Amino acid sequence: MKDQLLNIQKEAKEKIQNLHSLEDLEKFRIEFMGKKGKLTSILRGMGGLSKEERPIIGKLANEVREAIESELGKMKTSIEEKILLEKLEKDKIDITLPGKEVEVGHHHPLYNIIGELEEIFASLGFAVAEGPEIELVRYNFDNLNVPLDHSSRDKSDTFYINDDICLRTQTSPVQIRAMKAKDVPIKVIAPGKVYRTDEIDATHSPLFHQIEGLIVDKGITMADLKGTLEYVVKRLYGEETKTRFRPHQFYFTEPSAEMDATCIACHGKGCNVCKGSGFIEILGCGMVHPNVLKACGIDPDVYTGFAFGMGLDRMTMLKYGIKDLRLLFANDTELLTQF
Ligand code: DAH
Repeated sequence: MKDQLLNIQKEAKEKIQNLHSLEDLEKFRIEFMGKKGKLTSILRGMGGLSKEERPIIGKLANEVREAIESELGKMKTSIEEKILLEKLEKDKIDITLPGKEVEVGHHHPLYNIIGELEEIFASLGFAVAEGPEIELVRYNFDNLNVPLDHSSRDKSDTFYINDDICLRTQTSPVQIRAMKAKDVPIKVIAPGKVYRTDEIDATHSPLFHQIEGLIVDKGITMADLKGTLEYVVKRLYGEETKTRFRPHQFYFTEPSAEMDATCIACHGKGCNVCKGSGFIEILGCGMVHPNVLKACGIDPDVYTGFAFGMGLDRMTMLKYGIKDLRLLFANDTELLTQF
């Protein structure tokens, strides 16, 4: 038995030198040390030994096992090192290659316009106000003097959460919030998302963007309105831009108007964007209706104000030559990274 053990040790030692992979190593382990392995079966035979022989052979067997395990361990380390070196060689970083570009996000074109407008209005002393997109019907319609039977209140036009709450259909309710929350004088703009039940097509979307503006103070007149809005449009589209005001009706302003500016596509010559007129509609505006001031606890005999609301999506499309409104909301980075 002693010879058998020594032979196994010798055989194992030789075989271990010829192992080249972790799989080989595992096969070897099973062949020698596994349940049915060569060493194991010899050790099983120890039951037949005499009392005197048993401890001697037992000791030897342990030594043989330890020797094999130690050789195996060394070989394992050496194979693992080899694998690591091969991997390092393969994954070698070529520091002379150009680096991978880190993708940095940037503003959505719509938010470029919002940023530009905020900057222009800030230079005129306007602060940016915010209001919720889920709004009280009272602020979205009632306090804005919109009659109870007006079609814009229909369930077919407005998304209602319940009878008292809706998705705001305009940024105008931020006017009410500003007037209720702040002391006069008030000078704010409020950009944001608004919602209407429009079907989606190239020029309509149930979600779109507006920017609201409001000034309330003593002695504000229509001249302030015209001067401010003309200045803003010239800053936005260039000094040569012309504006015109057409009478209109809004319930929250009196008198009310729509403002047009020289078409930015043809610079006033007439094209298919402006349908030949040379002008495009930019915004709605007017002098804040006394009823609106009253609803917010402001005395219309002491204070006056003007307000305006501008659609931002069409302005963005015109500025960047985007033909389809849906592209603004498609999250298509190939399109968005162009701006
Ligand atoms: N809220 C109006 C709309 O969505 C736009 C508007 C018109 C806002 C006149 C105003 C305003 O503040 O004075 O069509």
